[in-house]
Amino acid sequence: MLKYIREYKIADMKDMIRNTKKQHLRSMESLQGKTAVIAGGTSGVGLSAVRVFAQYNCNLVLIARNEQKVKKLVDELQNEFKCTVVYYLADFTILEEVHKAAERILKEVPSVDILINSAGIHSTRKIYTQEGFESVFCVNYLAPFILTYRLITKLQQSPAARIIQVNSQGHRFNGFNINDLNWKKRIYTGLRGYGASKTAQLLSVWEFADRLEHTQITINAMHPGEVKSNIGSNNGPLYRWFHDKVVSKSLKDVIISGESLHYLASAPELSTVSGKYFNLTHPEKPAPHALDRETGALLWGKTLALTGLSSEKIWMSSMEEKIQCLKIL
Ligand SMILES: NC(=O)c1ccc[n+]([C@@H]2O[C@H](COP(=O)([O-])OP(=O)(O)OC[C@H]3O[C@@H](n4cnc5c(N)ncnc54)[C@H](OP(=O)(O)O)[C@@H]3O)[C@@H](O)[C@H]2O)c1
Repeated sequence: MLKYIREYKIADMKDMIRNTKKQHLRSMESLQGKTAVIAGGTSGVGLSAVRVFAQYNCNLVLIARNEQKVKKLVDELQNEFKCTVVYYLADFTILEEVHKAAERILKEVPSVDILINSAGIHSTRKIYTQEGFESVFCVNYLAPFILTYRLITKLQQSPAARIIQVNSQGHRFNGFNINDLNWKKRIYTGLRGYGASKTAQLLSVWEFADRLEHTQITINAMHPGEVKSNIGSNNGPLYRWFHDKVVSKSLKDVIISGESLHYLASAPELSTVSGKYFNLTHPEKPAPHALDRETGALLWGKTLALTGLSSEKIWMSSMEEKIQCLKIL
């Protein structure tokens, strides 16, 4: 931990503060004819992206846990916009449901060009899922990992595909420990649990980016700004009171997140940019602990085992690309 704190550079911190004050960049690119899979599209950051993508004529595949809520949203979108919208149900605390949703998308959705993982939670208490995973780690990291990993064969059929993981400056809280991913050995706090899940996701983004280097798929992570949303509403009344009365006063409108996701998913200047972390639309250096590639490599293996994706898939199409990929592995 101390090692990582010492690695923080003043210049990087200044950069981060500067980026936070900067206006996000916009794209005017149409998404006509493209299909985006968006997880977490029923609220906050994901919902903002859904609406912006629909305005730009993107076809949408929503992954949600609440059927009533997502059905209502699909109806609204179909009345308001020309795009087609379908939904799949999956509760991200149940990895089996995530596998099933991915399998159905692979079978039923003709093409996927964009994948956005925005489903996420922050919990002040340590809660284990019915499958035995710490719930924040499960929802914020393991479930989006499965979706990303499994949808790659579909994304590979697109002429140019982009994956964006909605991450957070909260990764800077750290809390990540490769020997205690499931919080059995340490005292849990909300910030550390959240930081651990977001750190894990960043470490996995660099691993995915390496493996996808010889494909037409890019993968990046982004911090969606400090915006008004429903995050934390699963916590107790004191937390919610503090969030509503104090924190939310300084939060921005969530439209900046949706517009930034549209920029990251469509800007021509980002067509080959992969393996980066963006503060909204501005590239930024993540915290040193999230750049530890040795730990990332260990995490990759552990994640495949935890998620039941134990055999390494090679997605590259030609033999030459496979050889290149094997060199990386
Ligand atoms: N808001 C911010 O300032 C901020 C800052 C940094 C990072 N982020 C990140 O942005 C992402 C979106 O958060 P948000 O702020 O937009 O929060 P939000 O308004 O609470 O939206 C969270 C989304 O995730 C879905 N979700 C939560 N638990 C789920 C589960 N078990 N299974 C399936 N879906 C689930 C929610 O579905 P329901 O609609 O059914 O609840 C909702 O669609 C998260 O990854 C968060 O870490 C947000």
